[in-house]
Amino acid sequence: MGAGAPSPDAVAQGKKILVCVTGGIAAFKVVAVVRSLAETGADVRVVMTPSAHHFVGAQTFAALSGNPVATEMFGSGAAVPHVELARGADLVIVAPATANAVAKMALGFADDLFSAVLLTVRSPVLVAPAMHTEMWEHPATQRNVAALEERGITLIGPSEGALSSGDSGAGRMSEPEEIVRAGLRALGRAEDLAGVRALVTAGGTQEPIDPVRFVGNRSSGRMGFAIAQEAAARGARVTVVAGATSAEPPPGIEVVRVATADEMRAAVLERAPECDVTVKAAAVADFKPREAVDRKLKKASGPPEITLVPTPDILAELGSSPGLRKARGILVGFAAETEPDPGVLGRLAEGKRRSKGADVIVANDVGSSDSGFGAATNRAVIASPDGLTDVGLVTKIALASALMDVVAGLLRTRRSL
Ligand code: PMT
Repeated sequence: MGAGAPSPDAVAQGKKILVCVTGGIAAFKVVAVVRSLAETGADVRVVMTPSAHHFVGAQTFAALSGNPVATEMFGSGAAVPHVELARGADLVIVAPATANAVAKMALGFADDLFSAVLLTVRSPVLVAPAMHTEMWEHPATQRNVAALEERGITLIGPSEGALSSGDSGAGRMSEPEEIVRAGLRALGRAEDLAGVRALVTAGGTQEPIDPVRFVGNRSSGRMGFAIAQEAAARGARVTVVAGATSAEPPPGIEVVRVATADEMRAAVLERAPECDVTVKAAAVADFKPREAVDRKLKKASGPPEITLVPTPDILAELGSSPGLRKARGILVGFAAETEPDPGVLGRLAEGKRRSKGADVIVANDVGSSDSGFGAATNRAVIASPDGLTDVGLVTKIALASALMDVVAGLLRTRRSL
């Protein structure tokens, strides 16, 4: 990783960007997107759905991108056009994304070139929806959009404003400059953790009472897995130490399974000295039964008396002993708070950052149904040496992205010192 952040245009030089144009009136605005991206030195390829041709001619995109426009699954000369286009793409932008295009992506259709490309790509994907307000607000579209976001796809807009139907409302495609800026940001991010070793904890620990019962919590692992996915997408080599989880870990990432706080401590302390970034998103039990009995407690014996003792505080141990960590590495902890107010969350985050010796603390609200344990979204404030970032209520992957922005910035600063 270099010491300074590269300029936005420099990150696009030579990169392969696919722009997928689907059939909406806003396609005319994508002409400016393609022109701007081509001017950065990127290798821009345009894919058009058949209905997109009703709005802009393929010749226009071909002339501006300097490449032929792809429309057909078959007969273009390439052996397998969707694979050829998707492999090696550094970024995909879908603009305008109609309600139909969003639905096909959400469901994983592959019945035309556009949807087959989207099912094949592994690069970051940005989607700029454009449709009438009723279609945007329909529960089916909202569910599809949530599915895309949960997969790590970034939505740009839509904004509110004049629509082709003559009325005004939500559903207007974001402006070309905004789409280009988001594209360049995504390309920059795609590399900002290259060469970084990251350790992420996820899920909840289970402290045994007897062979079938335990003290545990409702952590699904979604937050930790989202962080691991985001860090890996930005170039980091990631290991996840996971307790009990109900969510699926992201593909291609090393996962070390543990059950108890003691096992998590051992797995983390073994790896932390090698890692540039350690993120403690797991919900570690604060207390465990003093001893676990080796035979199942019988109901007939009456309610047992269980004495709880504290578990090791892994985050505090790492925070207070720099020898346990890599020099100039970044230590990130979470704070689970039953508190939605960003002002209070910010104060609690900064307080825990200092008391635990962490570089960064993410304070999240675990008291609302749309945030914290098990939810797809999270409400959080990030405290770092650079101050507080109120992320608001966002998907867990969007929170992971905001957190990795902070982490990448701190790594850059430390490496330039
Ligand atoms: O998994 P999900 O369903 O997606 O839910 C995500 C989450 C709500 C579990 C996650 O976002 C979160 O808040 N994780 C931390 C939960 C927690 O244990 O918070 P805490 O305030 O009790 O602990 C503060 C920090 O100390 C945490 O980084 C925790 O990992 C760490 N800790 C706590 C206790 C302990 N014995 N050892 C620790 O290292």
